[in-house]
Amino acid sequence: MQFSYADNSATVKADALLVPVFEGKGLSDFKFGAQLSKLFNKSDFAGKAGTSLMLHKSYAVGADRVFLIGLGKKDKAGPQQLGEAVAGFFRGGAVNTSKLKHVAIALEGAKGDAVAVGRWCAEGALLGDYHFDVLFSKKDKKKHHVTKVTLAGGNARQLKQGVAYGEVTARYTAHARDLVNEPSNRIDPATLAKFAQEMARKLPGLKCTILHKAQIEKLKMGAFLGVNAGSDIPAHLIVLEWNGGKKGDKPIAYVGKGLTFDSGGYDIKPAAGMLGMKMDMGGGGATICALGAIAKLKLKVNAVGVVPATENLINGRAYHPGSVLTSMSGQTIEIGNTDAEGRLILCDALTYTQRKFKPRVIVDMATLTGAQVVALGNKVVGLMSNDDKLAKSLERAFAGIGEEVWRLPLPDFYDKQIDSSIADMQNIGGNPGTVTAGLFLKRFIEKGQKWAHLDIAGPAMNDGEGWRLWSGKSATGAPVRALVEFAEKF
Ligand code: BES
Ligand code: MN
Ligand code: ZN
Repeated sequence: MQFSYADNSATVKADALLVPVFEGKGLSDFKFGAQLSKLFNKSDFAGKAGTSLMLHKSYAVGADRVFLIGLGKKDKAGPQQLGEAVAGFFRGGAVNTSKLKHVAIALEGAKGDAVAVGRWCAEGALLGDYHFDVLFSKKDKKKHHVTKVTLAGGNARQLKQGVAYGEVTARYTAHARDLVNEPSNRIDPATLAKFAQEMARKLPGLKCTILHKAQIEKLKMGAFLGVNAGSDIPAHLIVLEWNGGKKGDKPIAYVGKGLTFDSGGYDIKPAAGMLGMKMDMGGGGATICALGAIAKLKLKVNAVGVVPATENLINGRAYHPGSVLTSMSGQTIEIGNTDAEGRLILCDALTYTQRKFKPRVIVDMATLTGAQVVALGNKVVGLMSNDDKLAKSLERAFAGIGEEVWRLPLPDFYDKQIDSSIADMQNIGGNPGTVTAGLFLKRFIEKGQKWAHLDIAGPAMNDGEGWRLWSGKSATGAPVRALVEFAEKF
């Protein structure tokens, strides 16, 4: 998809012209040419968010078709609502039925800063147009993709600046979606590492190091290796480093769970729960792609991404319920349940990241608990942190990109639930399951280290209908955009 710019929406030539409309206010708010306005005023379009209406071609308009797209109430409608309306149109049926190749968007009446408008239009168009269709062998199963988008009637210089940014956040979000949507026979710990390496090769200044099993053994990552024991594919530790900030400035660290398939291990998941567990590397995929976007945007910040990658499977060497593992930190962990594997691979990655990089802040993200889905569902990320300022900055980053996050507490009185009678701790702690998982990770955070944990078990996958910039029942790429926003504002 390519972006271009035009002065006037009435004269721009395209397969379709999208005209954003506020709810209830009619069309008078938009300063289009008189003939365009006349055409709109004859329509009965109400402008509700998520709706669109096709108007027949008029001699007055350069485009072959005109679609009114609803923005919702005017007082709430800014660049974000415009981006969401654009996303809704690009994933909708009209693109397919009318085989639209070139879509123009009328921006004469757009509210808000033109840089933000450009950014949200690019994100909406690219992420709305996204569809995981590479595995269909027949062309008719594939989505029809728009190849050109023209932003018409706005300040081209500012729009361009916004599009340049939004193209990067959207394309790397799409990469993260691909990684999650790809089945686990195609994305495994080795191919995930290869993806990170190849991505970094194309981005000058982004360094990618893969630690192989022998090095992971040398680091004594006993918890990570315990999970990996049941898999024929060796564990990989993916490390990405971007030094766009001042030399010697401590980096932001992102750590993501890269569990490429979670069978549950000997505490095996029931069939319905196991199906879909290719998505269990969502946190790792987001970490890799966020570092890619940060490097592509050349953000003036130092950042590292660390992803422990393994499968959780069963064989004659797999870890057992009741096994005791010794983590890199030296703390011992009794296995209460082999399906609580995410915290085991993360705890060693957290120790490694703190010792190796001494990060200013560390943010981990993981599809960690089914309890997060119960508590907050698919549209709200669970946030836990030992630092109020860091938590607030993350909340601001999510608000900035139009996604939801909710902070959960980490009270000391639940911490004793992860004590074990034969080891330093156990990997299960009962209810509240999301919080006791957070408290487990907290035991690996060293003194003075600012840390936050994002449980994205629900939000890694959209549950069905389109929502904001998300498409149907498939990967969302969350929280790549929030991570880039956080790094940019840091
Ligand atoms: N990967 C799962 C969590 C998950 C569940 C993600 C549903 C997405 C959708 C995780 O490894 C897991 O199995 N967690 C267990 C922990 C329990 C055994 C303490 C869970 O939440 O049931
Ligand atoms: Mn599990
Ligand atoms: Zn898991």
